[in-house]
Amino acid sequence: MKQRPFGSTQCEVSIIGQGTWYLDSGDRASAVAALRRGLDRGMTHIDTAEMYGDAELVIADAIAGRRDEVFLVSKVLPSNASRSGTVAACDKSLRRLKTDRLDCYLLHWRGRHPLEDTVAAFEGLRRQGKILSWGVSNFDVDDLEALWKVPGGKGCACNQVLYHLNERAIEHAVIPWCEQNGVAVVGYSPYGHDNFPGPRTAGGKVLEGVAAAHGAIARQVALRFLVRQRALFTIPKAGKAEHAAENAAAGDLQLSEAEIAQIDTAFPRGRPRSLPML
Ligand SMILES: NC(=O)c1ccc[n+]([C@@H]2O[C@H](COP(=O)([O-])OP(=O)(O)OC[C@H]3O[C@@H](n4cnc5c(N)ncnc54)[C@H](OP(=O)(O)O)[C@@H]3O)[C@@H](O)[C@H]2O)c1
Repeated sequence: MKQRPFGSTQCEVSIIGQGTWYLDSGDRASAVAALRRGLDRGMTHIDTAEMYGDAELVIADAIAGRRDEVFLVSKVLPSNASRSGTVAACDKSLRRLKTDRLDCYLLHWRGRHPLEDTVAAFEGLRRQGKILSWGVSNFDVDDLEALWKVPGGKGCACNQVLYHLNERAIEHAVIPWCEQNGVAVVGYSPYGHDNFPGPRTAGGKVLEGVAAAHGAIARQVALRFLVRQRALFTIPKAGKAEHAAENAAAGDLQLSEAEIAQIDTAFPRGRPRSLPML
């Protein structure tokens, strides 16, 4: 699995990680096995959130005895993101994850609490060693600009945003801004939240063709395309171990410039628009 530096942190992080939204809704043993298979294959970046029901508890089971392998990320809900609320939410996530630290802690989206307060809480948690870095999610360029004006705001390591083949809005402004400012871009819902282009669609046929040339599958081609630039990471969610293994194998795929151009044409990025979110 290829790794790359995660924004301004010194950490090398797997370009393909593991999402966990709704991971608690299926069979618990399968979910734990899927995360472990992913870890075995190098998908050591695990993404969760206090919002994701019992996903943090599932992760605790999966990473028991393996904490040092993992780059563990959780998120505070905007409604909790006051100065004291952020600290309380973090402590709760740490307890549920059965760990003493998060590698990165994110504001899930911008809410009513001033960014100054959330950043101050993040920095306090970082000084205490409860989090090793912090970032944001669903921030458009104007939100990032606002964050950059806040004391300590430039300490932001990543921006986690919606990014899949049929939703490439972040390519217009968010990715360039983040690359310029040393912020990692973590693309979420890389399969469109389980709405992946079928093999009989025009785009699906292009993916199948590229995949066949590599002895790969269409989803692996899609994941590799989504991490083709130096700031990019992706976090597919898999509740089945065989899916996790397939996703991890995408980390070793190499796409040529011509193949990237084919995919680019098959899934046009469209006009500049404001940041979409799920
Ligand atoms: N920051 C935010 O606001 C935000 C918003 C949305 C998502 N996220 C994060 O991003 C993660 C991923 O996004 P997502 O959960 O929305 O959806 P997704 O990763 O786009 O799609 C997940 C679906 O794809 C299926 N799948 C995964 N690998 C597969 C494979 N190799 N072959 C066939 N099917 C496969 C999964 O099935 P199985 O489960 O059956 O394996 C599941 O149904 C989330 O889990 C979460 O951690 C963040």
